[in-house]
Amino acid sequence: MPAEKTVIEICLGSSCFSRGNKDIVKIVQDIVAKQNPGVRITLRGTRCTGHCSNGPNIVINGKIIEGVSISDIEEILSRELGIKRI
Ligand code: FES
Repeated sequence: MPAEKTVIEICLGSSCFSRGNKDIVKIVQDIVAKQNPGVRITLRGTRCTGHCSNGPNIVINGKIIEGVSISDIEEILSRELGIKRI
């Protein structure tokens, strides 16, 4: 049976981007692509979803996670997907 597809979407709307998602993109890319090479994840940017006041926001498998910061993104990825910085 094929593994369930995991999708991480990072809001690149102007509010989320300027409030920290420009740095979150780099961290997520690093943790997912470079440090967990066996994990199959689609990483993509999204446009504003209208939740700007609670941003910066990401979406993992359809679940909106608000108020993401560079200090908690590692914990979020570990909690939601079981992947971590090596
Ligand atoms: S800019 Fe991200 S929700 Fe609006």
